[in-house]
Amino acid sequence: MELHIAETREDLVERMARAAAEWIGAHPGSLVCLAAGDTPLPVYARLVALQAEGRVDLASVFYAGLDEWVGLGPADAGSCLQVMRDAFYEPAGIPADRRRVFDGLADPATECRAMERWIEAHGGIRFTLLGIGINGHVGFNEPGAPDGEGCLVVALDDITQTVGVKYFDRERTLQQGVTVGLRSLSKAEIVFLMATGERKADIVGRMLSGDPAVPASRLLPHPGLRIYLDREAAGRL
Ligand code: F6R
Repeated sequence: MELHIAETREDLVERMARAAAEWIGAHPGSLVCLAAGDTPLPVYARLVALQAEGRVDLASVFYAGLDEWVGLGPADAGSCLQVMRDAFYEPAGIPADRRRVFDGLADPATECRAMERWIEAHGGIRFTLLGIGINGHVGFNEPGAPDGEGCLVVALDDITQTVGVKYFDRERTLQQGVTVGLRSLSKAEIVFLMATGERKADIVGRMLSGDPAVPASRLLPHPGLRIYLDREAAGRL
């Protein structure tokens, strides 16, 4: 495991974007799994800028979406699909046949099987960039949820539902999610986990202490885990 702590968020974003671009450049045709959420958006913006500078071809790899709120579709502001389409896939010019994201309006179990087939067809996830929820979830691998193989339909934790309101422009009642499971994520060679801001400091401290109630702690034994924190998120280490 590598722990990177940057003094500023800008520095953190720059380091992560350059490292991700370097990996992508060296692994054409590989499958990359990207989190939505607020935290990694500046990294995606920087990756798009690096591509514009001719430093990386982001369409040289394939993509799998990490998760989705069951019940939300492309037209819903705050769905993972909408966020990733507008923040990354479209500005990066990723062709539709190079990416697959969950459809939150489709039958969730069928969506999981379809995503598993996509992952398998592209040789498994080799690189993933994750955030962490304040309850320690990664994707929608919630506290107490089973560590199943493949992709999972999960009951959303109360904290996830409460914090989730920040993404939406109106009130939503969302109780389920679909996610790539921790075991599939753990098969990636490189796992970037990113946290910024003071509000992530407690959960990052608990994760790094190996708290078994924190789903992200299960990534700690992974040899390719690279944790990227700004100074605030590292405040309880
Ligand atoms: C989003 C996702 C979630 C978020 C986490 C942190 O696709 O998988 O696990 O990464 O909830 O969200 P932010 O970055 O908004 O604090």
